[in-house]
Amino acid sequence: MDMYLCSMSESLYVDQSLSKDQKYRDLLPQLKALIGNEKNAVANMANLSAALKSAFNFWWVGFYLVDQDELVLGPFQGPVACTRLSKNKGVCAKAWQTATTVIVPDVDQFPGHIACSGETRSEIVVPVKNTNGNVFAVLDVDSNKPDDFDSDDQQYLELIAAMLQTSVQ
Ligand code: SME
Repeated sequence: MDMYLCSMSESLYVDQSLSKDQKYRDLLPQLKALIGNEKNAVANMANLSAALKSAFNFWWVGFYLVDQDELVLGPFQGPVACTRLSKNKGVCAKAWQTATTVIVPDVDQFPGHIACSGETRSEIVVPVKNTNGNVFAVLDVDSNKPDDFDSDDQQYLELIAAMLQTSVQ
């Protein structure tokens, strides 16, 4: 029987014994190959979510998309999550409204944190901007460990958000 493969290799290789920083470094060119020739935002968000989840085994990785004055759930990997988030409450809304990355070391200490999962202990949310500089989505990464995100995650996840912006423009 014939077997049909996609036109490019969709397998990722990330050595799990490496440091977090080195894993991001190894992942970046692979992500570029994965999304660089595709303009569909949903397809690219889906593959980025899967890649980040498999490389780092985060508890939840995914995107929320700006939909008028709310955020609506986009592609993600992990447990089922809140479908809509208001623009006035929560970590995702803060990253959207301030257009800057928000790191929350302890979700219990963030006023208005929205707990889609009771397992989440820390999170980072990175805005994804279009070419006009307007936020059209946020990348939300949640961990079941406290204080799991630092400036390295911020630096690399912001690069990944910029890569997504470039791919869809
Ligand atoms: N914690 C987020 C909500 C999204 S989920 O956790 C997947 C927030 O406070 O905006």
